Amino acid sequence: VAKSGGRRKKRSSSVVAEPEGRLTKLFHASPVALAISTVGEGRIIDVNQIWLELFGYQREEVVGRTNAELGITVDPAIRSTAVQRVGADGVLRNFELQVRRKSGELRDVIVSAVPVEIGGEECWISSQVDITDRNRAEAERDQLLASERAARAEAEAALERLRAIESITDSALRRLGFDELLHELLARLQRALDTDAATVMLINEDGRTLSPRAAYGYELNPALRVRMGFGVTGLVAARGQPVVVDDYSRVDVSGIAGLHEPDVRSAVSSVMGVPLRIGDMVVGVVVVSSGRPRRFTKEELSLMGLVADRVAPAIELGRLMERVRGGRERQRVLARRLLTAQEEERRRLAVELHDELGQVLTAVKINLASLERRPAGSAPSAHLSEALASVDGAMERVRDLALALRPSVLDDLGLPAALRWYADRFARDAAIEAHLSIDDVPRLEPEIETACFRVAQEALTNVARHAKARCVWLDLHLHDGWLELSVRDDGIGFEAAAARERAVGGASMGLLGMQERVTLLEGECRIASGSEGGTELRARLPVHDTPRGEA
Ligand SMILES: Nc1ncnc2c1ncn2[C@@H]1O[C@H](COP(=O)(O)OP(=O)(O)OP(=O)(O)O)[C@@H](O)[C@H]1O
Ligand SMILES: [Mg+2]
Repeated sequence: VAKSGGRRKKRSSSVVAEPEGRLTKLFHASPVALAISTVGEGRIIDVNQIWLELFGYQREEVVGRTNAELGITVDPAIRSTAVQRVGADGVLRNFELQVRRKSGELRDVIVSAVPVEIGGEECWISSQVDITDRNRAEAERDQLLASERAARAEAEAALERLRAIESITDSALRRLGFDELLHELLARLQRALDTDAATVMLINEDGRTLSPRAAYGYELNPALRVRMGFGVTGLVAARGQPVVVDDYSRVDVSGIAGLHEPDVRSAVSSVMGVPLRIGDMVVGVVVVSSGRPRRFTKEELSLMGLVADRVAPAIELGRLMERVRGGRERQRVLARRLLTAQEEERRRLAVELHDELGQVLTAVKINLASLERRPAGSAPSAHLSEALASVDGAMERVRDLALALRPSVLDDLGLPAALRWYADRFARDAAIEAHLSIDDVPRLEPEIETACFRVAQEALTNVARHAKARCVWLDLHLHDGWLELSVRDDGIGFEAAAARERAVGGASMGLLGMQERVTLLEGECRIASGSEGGTELRARLPVHDTPRGEA
């Protein structure tokens, strides 16, 4: 060591020169693990205490053996690799490798070795430093760095998404009316997702179909009706789950009415739809489509989902407002028509009274006057019997008029009998087979009986006038505090929503009247019909009080 600046040969010999001297002390006292082994086979000649601690052996276990025999060697080729790494000066520097301790535990070490000659034999004296912890720390730091980078990227992506949602659903939307809101929303969604078209479909009142409510990028087709569970939007609505379709040509469009299939097939390649949800309830679907085939990504889907969740309440609110407005409008129309109807009824009554009773009374008066002029004691003449007959006729007319004003059967017989009477008469006059299933419900509040009777009357009249039906089924049941009426036919059916629109526009009164009567009594009235045929009206009215006549 003293001549360490000298040539290799000399330095080596100096170690050997004083085996029990200072170098030996240094060897054993070194804080670094040191070993001396033969160059040829790598047999261990000596190791220091730190080496023993590092590898977990006793000295007598290792002297005379090789690393490979001891199992310290992990990679059998490591010795030849190390030899290749020996520098031009014959020194191996900072060679990293993995070793196995006696316990089997693997450690990373860094080795440097210099050749020495001991007792005429070429040996390596090597130092080993355990760098496992350092490596681990480094790996941990790398991992931390990576996860920090990932977290930052994620945060940025989230922010980006948030910005996108914000730009789609910003507060400016709140100031828009319902239709502009939908239009603007779809325009933004279409821009953000770079699609060709975007549509909002809402579930109809019948709960079985969806209708388009707003479209962007193409002309909205108001005749479109999607059955729940069919097509993409029907599936989204039925499942309450998003649906992504890369290849639209595979979608079965058989459950979609009013759709021109070739047009849609040529315009749509990929579709993505998400539900519009209020709490657990699905109220509609937002769907975007692309003309060129594409794969919508998870991010795009989640963006659309977030937008849908964010705007669903606004859409529902808009629809409710619209319904309220529609209800008010309906009420106004009804009130107006009711007035007209009353006026007409009055006029008719006035004409009847004038024409029928006026003439009869005039005849009676003439007859009575001629009786007055007769000499006293003469026999009753034909004038008297004529007058009596006229009075009889007048009484009959009055009864007819009263009957037209209010069906007395209802008062006299109660609802079930009145319905049977009316339905029988209806079946006979209209030549339609009537199947009745009418429970003998007890007497109910008069308004309820009247409303139910009138609704049945209008429904049956509609069947006779419009349905071209062969059969009609009329059911009346009292169930759980509800009086339930159903009138069903096997006729041609009709688009109930469209008919209601026309009625609100003043085209007719029947449907609105039924709805209004039932709603006034806090009941529910639904019409299920469609172009497939058959119509069913269901009305239910709450029955609160003790029924009449049973108390
Ligand atoms: N059972 C039915 N089958 C087929 N179409 C029907 C049926 N009920 C109603 N409709 C259709 O709905 C429309 C509206 O019915 P609504 O009762 O409101 O009017 P209306 O019967 O034409 O006239 P009114 O005001 O005198 O009742 C009808 O014109 C008819 O086209
Ligand atoms: Mg009608």
